[in-house]
Amino acid sequence: MSTTVLVVQGTAERAGAERVLLGLLANADPRRIRPVVAFLGDGPFASEVAALGVEVVHLPPVGRLRQPTGVPAAIRHLRAAIRDTGADVVHAAGEKVALLACPAARTERVPAVVRLHDGPAPWRAPASIGVQLVAAAVPKTSVVVPSQWMAEAFFRRCRLHADVIPNGIDLARLPAPGSGRADVLSATGWPADAVVFAHAGRLESWKGTDVFLKAAGRLIEDPAAERARFLIVGGALYGRDERWAAGLPALANELGLGDRVHFTGFRPDALHLLAGADAVVHASTRPEPFGMVVIEGMALGATVIASAIGGPSEVIDHGRTGLLAAPGRPETLAAAMHTVASDDDLRRRLGAAAREAAERSWSAATMARRWTDHWEAVAGGAATRTTGSSAA
Ligand code: GLC
Repeated sequence: MSTTVLVVQGTAERAGAERVLLGLLANADPRRIRPVVAFLGDGPFASEVAALGVEVVHLPPVGRLRQPTGVPAAIRHLRAAIRDTGADVVHAAGEKVALLACPAARTERVPAVVRLHDGPAPWRAPASIGVQLVAAAVPKTSVVVPSQWMAEAFFRRCRLHADVIPNGIDLARLPAPGSGRADVLSATGWPADAVVFAHAGRLESWKGTDVFLKAAGRLIEDPAAERARFLIVGGALYGRDERWAAGLPALANELGLGDRVHFTGFRPDALHLLAGADAVVHASTRPEPFGMVVIEGMALGATVIASAIGGPSEVIDHGRTGLLAAPGRPETLAAAMHTVASDDDLRRRLGAAAREAAERSWSAATMARRWTDHWEAVAGGAATRTTGSSAA
């Protein structure tokens, strides 16, 4: 008999966490799992989920949790959804929906899983405290995070025990390596032998786009790196850091990058553009909880250079499947980029090993198997412990 998992999802914009969920839903074995996704409100992401053939339930939007007038109603709707779908497990996609989904699951006596994508960190303290409260109040809650770094951070900061299930990438839905090349060259006017370094992601100050630009500024001083070009794919999202993002082209100008840098703005087909890059640079200055673009770049056979902190440092085997560089230091990043720009063989070797590692270890199929085992264990009443005295 299959396990019915009611995934509770907010009206998210389609960022990393949503790409992970799509890959998970598309790859879960229907003989073992019947997923149903309940959306609190409507949005384009709901149609993407429905397009996979997954059952979708629309619940009324809740509004902001800081004005909690809608909370009791939302919990009531969720309880009805748990009963109507015959859910065996409630899967809260993120900390905010957990505040609603966990109490609803508890009242209906169904175990809950909370999937955390961010935190804990001083700059996100309120949300982390919320999750802590929920975990303490709902005894049968299992918390799952995508990296060991996150599990350790949650344990250190709030004595919260979390299981680790790393994210995976849906290889079947990925563009073919190299397929975006012609579009990148025609949009930029760069020569065919350009070594394209791409920085992809939302433009938010901790993502280190400025560090990437400053590293590029150092690189262009060296004639050995004359083929290097710099592609920035992404825009400000969620209304955060908009002024900072708007200032990046001016910084590129000051650094003398001229037409060797190109800003595409937000692009829904970002992966297509990445499939035209030789290298993908991830320059976050704070620990990235996971960093989807790292495994996406790897799966596209690009050479990935990432900050040596957080999730990416668990994914990249330095010198074999990519390179790690100290965070927040343009000169260190520039040195790694220089090696990549001036050594075609190294680039090919790292790219091929990265693709292989992505297929073997970071696929959505592997992730879906782990999740399926976890959901079944939780549904079967396996003991879950969210607070305690030892780390994962
Ligand atoms: C969040 C995290 C990011 C992670 C993604 C998917 O956006 O900031 O690191 O890759 O969720 O888990």
